[in-house]
Amino acid sequence: MTILGITNGMLVTASETSHADILIEDDKIKAIGKDVTKGAQKIIDAQGKYIFPGAIDAHTHLDLPFMGTSSSDDFLTGTKAALFGGTTSIIDFAFQTQGKSLHEGLEIWHKKAAGLSLADYGFHMVVTDFNDDTSKEIENLVTREGITSFKTFMAYKNALMINDRQMIGLMNEVKKYGALVSVHAENGDLADSLIQQHRSAGFLAPEYHAKSRPPIVEAEATGRAIDLAYLGDHQLYIVHLTCESALNRVREACKRNQRVLVETCVQYLLLDDSLYKRPNFEGAKWVMSPPLRTTEDQHALWSGIEQGLIQTVATDHCPFCLKQKELGKNDFSKIPNGAPGIEHRVELMFSEGVLKKRISLNTLVEVCCANPAKIFGLYPKKGTLAVGADADIVIFDPYEKHTISAKTHHMNCDYSAYEGWEVTGRVKCVLLRGQIAIENGQCLLKNGFGKYLARKPTF
Ligand code: URP
Ligand code: ZN
Ligand code: ZN
Repeated sequence: MTILGITNGMLVTASETSHADILIEDDKIKAIGKDVTKGAQKIIDAQGKYIFPGAIDAHTHLDLPFMGTSSSDDFLTGTKAALFGGTTSIIDFAFQTQGKSLHEGLEIWHKKAAGLSLADYGFHMVVTDFNDDTSKEIENLVTREGITSFKTFMAYKNALMINDRQMIGLMNEVKKYGALVSVHAENGDLADSLIQQHRSAGFLAPEYHAKSRPPIVEAEATGRAIDLAYLGDHQLYIVHLTCESALNRVREACKRNQRVLVETCVQYLLLDDSLYKRPNFEGAKWVMSPPLRTTEDQHALWSGIEQGLIQTVATDHCPFCLKQKELGKNDFSKIPNGAPGIEHRVELMFSEGVLKKRISLNTLVEVCCANPAKIFGLYPKKGTLAVGADADIVIFDPYEKHTISAKTHHMNCDYSAYEGWEVTGRVKCVLLRGQIAIENGQCLLKNGFGKYLARKPTF
């Protein structure tokens, strides 16, 4: 048995902040309190540091074939970068190939992750073709395969998009087993029409990506998905919500006592659409869907977190190197959509969120750790510091300053979306299931240490 102790740290959960020591036996937290670390074989002194639960990124795309190429981080490089930033579990998206079964898609993603992933990982199942056959697969996926969330795309016409009738069918089926439907909410037809208009007019630069997907494209689809869920009395999780007008659709839903769960991503809180105007195709770095919005939208999102309208902050990590982005050099609609971010979410949320008094320290833990765990069936094994929980622990120095750069990050991407940003606060040491994962700037885990997280329905 391995016995580890962490002393003198300030423990931060979604609800409390307190000085206490932690005793870890093998992979679990055995005790929390004063003087509980006697008998430990190794003591980590966390004087002056915060102790967070390992963070959970519920929206990543590792090794995703997309728009004629593949996201540049696989399960090894992506989860290593995640660990360096204090994220110990991810929930990635396993895609169904249209015309093939959901189980085949899941199998492919298991093969991508097994033997490589350093962090623990679960999968959302992306349903790109809902029909009588795929409908029959849902029960088995929920009850035997540990898949309790099903993602739909209302955008990416002629690729991933499903229609409303399919979404209603999926919601009805998923509800039978207590699982959850999540949605990428953009009106795919409207976006497609604007893309064609811009292309025909010869507007081909990256900024026309954003102009083809204005807030109303997102707000309309958000409202429609919410209405479909309301009529069927379904839970709904909206991924990567970006703007005030979409958030207002959630507000409207609250007024009629509907519960809608909302995720935003750190880039929508911190980066704005002026980046698309950068010369020499640089704007392509931030081409993602939905696109970055205005500073007013950022303000609305921070308020949305405080108001409890937004429950989770993820990354939608979907990196492409600059050469890959150049697929759209002469046509913005061919730029692979997505950006790197898995590594810096916690540090950015601390530096830009907590230190700038936009959110409390406990809210950081709530949106990055506890809520994703609760919503996606991992709590209290993950997402909190409690006796019996997995010893997924982040030791965080709130004072150390550092500068984010592609030169020093661990993501397999040749640019950073936050190049040159100086942040205060740094992840110093990370434990995953009681094993030291990150220490002294090194990753100490063997490839494939990460375990598949078979999840249980929560609704
Ligand atoms: O631009 C993005 N977000 N790329 C990843 C796929 C998605 O829509 O989530
Ligand atoms: Zn999306
Ligand atoms: Zn995504």
